[in-house]
Amino acid sequence: MSLPNLQIACDHSDLPTALADITKVGDVVDIIEAGTILMLQVGEYAVKCFRALYPDKKIVADTKCADAGGTVAKNCSEAGANWMTCICSATIPTMIAAAKEIEEIQVELYGDWTYENAQQWLDAGITQAIYHQSRDALFAGETWGEKDLKRVKKLIDMGMKVSVTGGLSVETLKLFEGIDVHTFITGRGITAASDPKKAALDFKAEIKRIWG
Ligand code: 5RP
Ligand code: MG
Repeated sequence: MSLPNLQIACDHSDLPTALADITKVGDVVDIIEAGTILMLQVGEYAVKCFRALYPDKKIVADTKCADAGGTVAKNCSEAGANWMTCICSATIPTMIAAAKEIEEIQVELYGDWTYENAQQWLDAGITQAIYHQSRDALFAGETWGEKDLKRVKKLIDMGMKVSVTGGLSVETLKLFEGIDVHTFITGRGITAASDPKKAALDFKAEIKRIWG
């Protein structure tokens, strides 16, 4: 089992505050995400700034793209992103078109999706998925539990690299002990902390304690 990556999601509503946070933790995390909120506000500029600051890091554009995959992926790739997200309800042709224009596509799992869908993504050469607790579901009282662990495990058994996200804290990570999670993605767990660098280091230390 390999050590899961730590990804920061910059879900800021403006670029200056995103840059202020990312410069505190960019050297600690493995992967940097321009979050959906930031992409909708200032997409291309956010990705370009992250790439200029961190030329060697993986950068994800969390577009949750539903259509026009090829064009969106080309734009993200030209701005400097390595990976881009497509929502799970996007069609396979949208995902394939996107995958041709950028290093990798990640399928964002929200709402209704099936293992049959997952097999279709794999058959199309798309091997990354993000298992998501939506922030609105969490606000409405959902929590991480056995049902989530089962689905994550099943997707990994099918051959997908699975990232996990949604309201994660350092304490949540131990729930996933024994599971080959590809990446833990956290936004507010780092960006809303009083000391974001310490929070990122705490996430890294807990990942190492459990999977190291
Ligand atoms: C929401 C997202 C967020 O980037 C992801 O959930 C991480 O944010 P947080 O840790 O703050 O929940 O993609 O759709
Ligand atoms: Mg995100």
